[in-house]
Amino acid sequence: MTDLIALEADLTAQIAAAADPAALEAVRVAALGKTGAVSTLLKSLGGMNTEDRQVQGPAINGLRDRVAATIASAKAALETAKLDARLAAEAVDLSLPAPPRRKGSVHPTMQAMDEIISIFAEMGFAVAEGPDIEDDFHNFTALNFPPKHPAREMHDTFFFNPKTDGERMLLRTHTSPVQVRTMLSQKPPIRIVAPGRTYRCDSDATHTPMFHQIEGLVIDRGIHMGHLKWTLNSFIGRYFETSAVTTRFRPHHFPFTEPSAEMDVGCDRSGGELKIGQGADWLEILGCGMVHPNVLRACGIDPDEYQGFAFGMGVDRLAMLKYGMSDLREMFAGDTRWLAHYGFSAFAAPNPASGLS
Ligand code: DAH
Repeated sequence: MTDLIALEADLTAQIAAAADPAALEAVRVAALGKTGAVSTLLKSLGGMNTEDRQVQGPAINGLRDRVAATIASAKAALETAKLDARLAAEAVDLSLPAPPRRKGSVHPTMQAMDEIISIFAEMGFAVAEGPDIEDDFHNFTALNFPPKHPAREMHDTFFFNPKTDGERMLLRTHTSPVQVRTMLSQKPPIRIVAPGRTYRCDSDATHTPMFHQIEGLVIDRGIHMGHLKWTLNSFIGRYFETSAVTTRFRPHHFPFTEPSAEMDVGCDRSGGELKIGQGADWLEILGCGMVHPNVLRACGIDPDEYQGFAFGMGVDRLAMLKYGMSDLREMFAGDTRWLAHYGFSAFAAPNPASGLS
């Protein structure tokens, strides 16, 4: 009996001394494990005579139950202490001042858009807008796209499900439909730029399904290619803020202009860096041309009386060229670190008087 009392006292002391779950487990194994002290005592009951067993049985079983209960409550206490320590360590001091909020900034595309608009505004162009969701007439037909033109195909254009009358609306693939809307709603002379979002089913380092364009349209009597060249040459010099920039016009094809051209700017690509206004390389920058007589007719303008020129350019690309971004997809990833690095102050609205960038 005294052995049992001493053993219980010893085990209780060991349990109290166990400072972590591993130490406690070691005590449990030494007492209640297969060859533990208490288990060995329980096994010895089998070899006792009936009288002894009647006395020792309840005593040893009682010891086992008390030791097991003490270990369980010690384990629970250790876990509570551990949780308390963790909560104390991870506590957030709500009385601390909040970290300063990241300042908002103007996205480089919008900065470039504002710069471009301000240059054309100074030349007497007004801003016109149209819807992102267009119909086939404004996006294609009125712009002289033949019925089977590949740009109408599914792989380029995002079409909506057909309406009940079978017409399929689409996300405009360019800002050119704003030309059509403007000519249908205004009388010449017309001088507009139409900035906005455009959509094509395409995605890689230089294409995103949504991108930005700015369209230009001039309609008046006696308009010719010379007006177009002067306007665009002046614009490019102003935009890149250098008089050194060289341009060339290369013959091209667009259904809505005749003749059509692409304008390249002189650049230098040596050393892995692109520099505008120097070097002997060329970089395509925009599409342009004289408005096709079919387009004028579709918009109710007599091509024998009025002529016009038009142009369209990718604003994101112009922003990338001016401000040194290399991957178009990053422009729309919404990464606040990128925005903080490339963004512009909202208080520095570009205008020709105070400077652009
Ligand atoms: N709409 C053309 C495009 O998205 C760009 C363009 C080219 C617009 C020539 C024009 C133009 O107005 O005259 O590729």
